[in-house]
Amino acid sequence: MPATDTATLPVTDALHKRRSVRAFTDRPVDPALLTEIFAAAQRAPSGGNLQPWQAIVIAGSDWQAVKDAVAARIAMGREGHQPEYDIYPKGLTEPWETRRFGVGEGLYAALGIPREDKKARLGQFMNNYTGFGAPVMLFLHCSRIMGPPQWSDMGMWLQSVMLLLVEHGLASCPQECWAMYGATIRETLALGDDQILFTGLAIGYADEDAAVNQWPVPRVGIDEVVDFRGFAS
Ligand SMILES: Cc1cc2nc3c(=O)[nH]c(=O)nc-3n(C[C@H](O)[C@H](O)[C@H](O)COP(=O)(O)O)c2cc1C
Repeated sequence: MPATDTATLPVTDALHKRRSVRAFTDRPVDPALLTEIFAAAQRAPSGGNLQPWQAIVIAGSDWQAVKDAVAARIAMGREGHQPEYDIYPKGLTEPWETRRFGVGEGLYAALGIPREDKKARLGQFMNNYTGFGAPVMLFLHCSRIMGPPQWSDMGMWLQSVMLLLVEHGLASCPQECWAMYGATIRETLALGDDQILFTGLAIGYADEDAAVNQWPVPRVGIDEVVDFRGFAS
């Protein structure tokens, strides 16, 4: 698809089409197309128009260097962990724990991996650290002085990028798992300690045939998340 492509997709369609893709083809991604996507994503809103998001987008040897550096930390086992932040709240309660459990179960069921097969489950999880074969990795970070409102701004930018990728025939998987090795990634990318790594975003063309890309990821009904009040019935 040329970088000048003027693809448009209704927002609702893009929302339904986007999913976390966990198997990519090796088809390279045109950096001019990514530039176009990031330019559009700059329209994301942010409190006070701070635009606190910052990203490093890597391919080729730069991407390989991160994978190699993180692989060396992984080989150290738990000792190698360098969490940037608590990925989930400590002591996650209901209803969130069930939702989190459910997505794992759906993924392993789609791959035919039974609950007892801890090795295969771990193997699938470890595919995170190759970006599921994506040719491009984006690392989203911001200044450490930023707080929860600015982290939510980062999320708005991230979703904007993901929807634009879908519009242009690309796919992605957000990956906060990289934050488990934050210091190594920041060092490899020459990011200062004043920066905090939020998440990775694997980018590429989806392997449409892969089972891992084909299972439905449920959502709770809006009655569980939206409370309408004061409307005439
Ligand atoms: C900020 C963020 C970080 C995520 N990190 C990971 C990750 O490390 N590995 C992974 O496989 N999925 C990750 N996900 C994907 C979620 O599991 C996924 O968005 C959720 O289950 C809903 O599925 P869907 O994106 O396919 O609709 C992440 C999603 C977000 C928004």
